[in-house]
Amino acid sequence: MPTPAPLRRALLTWFAAHRRDLPWRTTQGETANAYHILLSEVMLQQTQVATVIAYFHRFIAAFPTVESLAAADEQQVLRLWQGLGYYRRARNLHAAAKVIVTDYAGIVPRDLDSLLALPGIGRYTAGAIASIAYGVRAPILDGNVMRILARLFAIQDPINAPATIKRLWSHALQLVPSKQPGDFNQAMMELGATICTPRQPDCASCPVRAICLARRRGIVAKLPIKKAKTKPTAVAHHIIAIEHAGRFLFEQRPAKGLWSHLWQLPTCESLTTTSALSAPTLNSPTPATPVPPLTAKTLAAWTAQTTSLRIKTPVEIATFTHQTTHRTITFTLWRATLSARNQPLPLKATTNSTRPTTWRALGDLDDLPLANPQRMAIEHLRGAFVGDR
Ligand code: ADE
Repeated sequence: MPTPAPLRRALLTWFAAHRRDLPWRTTQGETANAYHILLSEVMLQQTQVATVIAYFHRFIAAFPTVESLAAADEQQVLRLWQGLGYYRRARNLHAAAKVIVTDYAGIVPRDLDSLLALPGIGRYTAGAIASIAYGVRAPILDGNVMRILARLFAIQDPINAPATIKRLWSHALQLVPSKQPGDFNQAMMELGATICTPRQPDCASCPVRAICLARRRGIVAKLPIKKAKTKPTAVAHHIIAIEHAGRFLFEQRPAKGLWSHLWQLPTCESLTTTSALSAPTLNSPTPATPVPPLTAKTLAAWTAQTTSLRIKTPVEIATFTHQTTHRTITFTLWRATLSARNQPLPLKATTNSTRPTTWRALGDLDDLPLANPQRMAIEHLRGAFVGDR
C-alpha cells in the first residue's frame, strides 16, 4: 500500500520543479490571495485550466476585490462569465461574495465549515480554498485526484459509486500533509492533468511510479472504472430569429432553470429530434416522448401564441447540437420577418410575453449575456445576413 511519507516527498519535489505558472498561483512562500483562489477554483469546477486563464484575468480586472464583486450588477457578472457555461456557478459566486462582505468583513473565511456554508462551495472547493489560500490541512477530491488514487491504490470498484467516493475521500485525507497541504493538493491535480491522464498516462515520467499499485499489477490502463451513466435524452429546440428593420427580437429567460436570466432569441423547447424517433442505438441518446417534427407552420403558431407577433412563414437556416449534462439538444435556427398583420409595428413595445424583451441589431448585443447555443445561432445569422452585421 502506498504510504503517505514517500508519496508526499516525491510529489512535492516534483511539483516544485514542474508547477505551471498560473495567474492565481503565488510563488512559493508568498501569501496567496484568497479571493483569487476562490474565483479560480469556482471557475475550475467544470472548466479546464487553459480556458479559465483568460476569464480569470477579465474577472479580476472588472472585480479586483470581493467588495467590488459583491456590489456588481448580476447581468455584468453573467456577461463576464459568458462562454464558461454552468452559469449557476457565476450566480453562486456573486451570492458568496455578498455573504463574505456582510458576514466576514470581506475576508474569505478559512475554516471548512464556514466555506462549506457559502453558496456553490462544496467539499472539494472548500478544501482547495482552505489548503491553497490558508495552508489548512484539508483534502480535495476531484476527477483528477480520483483517477490518481484509483491507480495508486489499485481500486477496482467504480469510482463514481458512493461507497468508493467515501473511500477515496478517506485516502485523500490520510495523504494530505500538514506542511504544504495546498502544494500537495495542487501537485495531485497537476499530476492528473499532465501525467496521470485518463488515456495514455506517461508512467515513465511519473514521480510516484515506484509506489503505484496499478503499475505494479499492470492495470493502469484499466483504471479508473466507472459505472455507466444514464444516457442523455435527445431533445430538439427551435430558435426563431424574428427580424424587423434590421433588428431581432431577444427575450430574457426566467430566473429558474437552465441558462436562467440569460438572453435569447425566442426558443421553442423540448420537442424530440426526428432522428431520435428511430430506435436508439447503444450509444445514442435516449429519445424523449416522441412527437412529430416541428413544421414552419406550427412554429409560426407557437410564435403567435408566446410573443403575440404574427410572422411570415419561417425559413430554416441552420442546425447544430449542444451537449448538457443530461441532454443532447439539437437546435434548429429559423428566420422570419413580421407579417403586415402586426400594424402598427411593435418595435418599441414589448410583446405579450411576460419576459423582458428587446429588439436588437446583431452588432449591438454586448450588454446581453447569451448562452453558447444562442451565440452560435447569432454566428449563423451573421453568416446569413451579411448586411446586418
Ligand atoms: N484544477 C482545479 N483547481 C486547480 C488548481 N488549483 N491547480 C490546477 N488545476 C486545478
